[in-house]
Amino acid sequence: MTRIDEIAPGLYRISTMLPGQAISFNQFLIDDERPALIHTGMHQLYDTVRRAIAQILDPKRLAYVVVPHFEADECGGMGRFVAEAPEAVLVCSDTGAQVNLGGWDYSGPVQGAREGDVIDLGSHRLCFLETPHVHHWDSMMIVEEATRSLFPADLFLQPGEQPPVVTENLGIEMCAVYREVGIFPARKPVLDVADRFDELDLAWVHPMHGGSLPAAVAQGYMAALRTEPFTFAGKLFGRPLPAYRAEDTVLAY
Ligand SMILES: [Fe+2]
Ligand SMILES: [Fe+2]
Repeated sequence: MTRIDEIAPGLYRISTMLPGQAISFNQFLIDDERPALIHTGMHQLYDTVRRAIAQILDPKRLAYVVVPHFEADECGGMGRFVAEAPEAVLVCSDTGAQVNLGGWDYSGPVQGAREGDVIDLGSHRLCFLETPHVHHWDSMMIVEEATRSLFPADLFLQPGEQPPVVTENLGIEMCAVYREVGIFPARKPVLDVADRFDELDLAWVHPMHGGSLPAAVAQGYMAALRTEPFTFAGKLFGRPLPAYRAEDTVLAY
């Protein structure tokens, strides 16, 4: 159900495929002097994610738990991972710290990240990109410099159980999932991020659902985002909302 694979030096993908789910749930562990966990999985995945981490390092050593936006699959384990590790700090976007953690049932340490902020893990460095409305107000992405990796959370997902590294272009399928589930309100914030990829000089993209993509493969997914409809089309998880007509929303900006 859960597997762990080293995708790049010191960078591990912990992937869980739950029965009956259309997508996998991936967390990423960076093993370094100050280890980091990028997203935690849902509350109920805590034990399986913790066991996977323990194959590589003592979870008590986690220094950073990074939450790219506040949704259960990104943050459901945050309280317990931070509580167990005496040095751990929760890192989210500055907006996320203001609008979410300022008033939630969480009392651990928090660090809000803004565009350009950097966290040094030892031989890896996390650089933060503020990416509001991809797909939440508080969304951010993370670039790890040593492995030239982007952690885009839900952008670039692929449905189904995928191998640790995906070389197939499933961009059309990705856009179909986004339309059915209804997670992106508008095209422009997403395409603005896609337009920044060349300057980021990436080797890897590590979506939290599906497999990791070599940068050249990710180009095919970006092409699909530029040409296919993928925004909210009047449906949530495939359920049409009576107040919306798809033709009004599908090309919305
Ligand atoms: Fe999400
Ligand atoms: Fe997610």
